[in-house]
Amino acid sequence: MTKRLIFNAFCMNALSHVYHGLWRHPETRQRNFNDLSVWTDLARLLEEARFDGLFLADVMGVDPIHKGRPDIYIEQGIHFPSNDPSILVGALAGVTEHLGLMFTSSILQAHPVEFARRVSTLDHYTRGRIGWNIVTSANAAAAKLFGHDGLTQHDDRYQWAQDYVDAAYRLWEGSWENDAVLNDPAGGRYAHPARVHEIRHKGPRYTITGRHMSTPSPQRTPFLIQAGSSPSGRDFAARNAEATFIVSLSAEGARRAISDINGRLQSVGRKPGDILFFQGLSFVIGSTDDEACRKAREMDEWVNHEALSAHVGRDLGVDFGSLDPDKPVRELDVQGLQGFTKFVEEANPGKVVRLRDLSTAMSYNGRIVGSPETIADRLRDWRDAGIDGVNIAYQTLPGSFEDFARHVMPVLRKRGLAQESYAPGTLREKLFPGRGPRLETGHPAAASRLHFGSVARLEVST
Ligand SMILES: Cc1cc2nc3c(=O)[nH]c(=O)nc-3n(C[C@H](O)[C@H](O)[C@H](O)COP(=O)(O)O)c2cc1C
Repeated sequence: MTKRLIFNAFCMNALSHVYHGLWRHPETRQRNFNDLSVWTDLARLLEEARFDGLFLADVMGVDPIHKGRPDIYIEQGIHFPSNDPSILVGALAGVTEHLGLMFTSSILQAHPVEFARRVSTLDHYTRGRIGWNIVTSANAAAAKLFGHDGLTQHDDRYQWAQDYVDAAYRLWEGSWENDAVLNDPAGGRYAHPARVHEIRHKGPRYTITGRHMSTPSPQRTPFLIQAGSSPSGRDFAARNAEATFIVSLSAEGARRAISDINGRLQSVGRKPGDILFFQGLSFVIGSTDDEACRKAREMDEWVNHEALSAHVGRDLGVDFGSLDPDKPVRELDVQGLQGFTKFVEEANPGKVVRLRDLSTAMSYNGRIVGSPETIADRLRDWRDAGIDGVNIAYQTLPGSFEDFARHVMPVLRKRGLAQESYAPGTLREKLFPGRGPRLETGHPAAASRLHFGSVARLEVST
């Protein structure tokens, strides 16, 4: 049987997300991101087209990393200003029935007790459609914003993240027994005190003693997503994630990333298939390939290339503004660029990679321009490389998604590459057919589950 792909709209509750400069395009509603109707209209459109989910990125802090200043990020609205995606998800809960609602939250932002309660509330209101993209915030401005002296060392950030998720797992999985809620008006008892347990978490950073404030939501633990590409990031994904977000620059690159992460699963008691791989891609669609190329050229006239380089420079921790964009990257002695340069070289064999190529690689290497049939062919190639789904970045909002829904989805459906209808149940059941609403027992979070009756089992330290 053909393996279908999962399709998520990859958005940000902000002015400018991936294709910087396009916020000025006359046909985009992105400029009105403070207006809730932009998002409720989008959510309805996505659900009508049977997209699997809306995936919301989020970034904290504004780094002074382009020409030594933060100016371009503010002037061009690069991930700033932005609104809280979890509040947006709360509003979208009321206008959708099936769409998965996945949002990013950094371990820096909220205490795990507050975060776990917020997620449980959202999971109740959406009947189990919440996904959490776990990020560690790799920029110093985010750390300073939250009162830290500077960025925590790379691998220490993942240890912190493990402590954070372990605390949250205990709250979601280990506090309330399945039959703790009696809801018995006749008997006069809402909940059974002996079945609502104190958790005792003592980790390197968090010490938590007490009961989870919300009753168990349909999924308990939300659908867990992670995006990180280093060895420790991949180890964290192998241990915790049910989906990982990759931005490989070619189908071959995706195959390698997938094989690497799958290879890390066994040592943590999990197996290939336990993690879904969402690849970031974008599309420009025309009735013919030529028309699509014409449209792409028109779109490109709006792109602000300096803003693209400021974005990539921030992600790589290198001030692109102070370097010559035409310089071959091999001639630059910048450690932070070496890994990414290798990926760009692999995706563009035989080409001398210049700094400006790195700026455009993230947005353009993953961009497919063509007719719906061409796009379906290319998506089949990515699927054959092992990806399970696509996070679709957009040029205009909602135009890019309207085009995809109207022109590409029908072709994909005909080829068995997109779902015909929503499966019943929670996001976890929709994305893992045949599994239940809760995390499977092989997942490390299951260890946080009470063997109810033995409270001592919750007194786990990390
Ligand atoms: C595809 C992808 C998407 C990401 N999205 C976000 C995001 O929305 N917010 C954020 O703060 N960090 C985001 N990150 C950053 C990661 O969470 C992580 O901090 C960064 O990649 C550094 O970790 P690494 O060295 O393991 O890759 C993203 C990373 C990748 C690769």
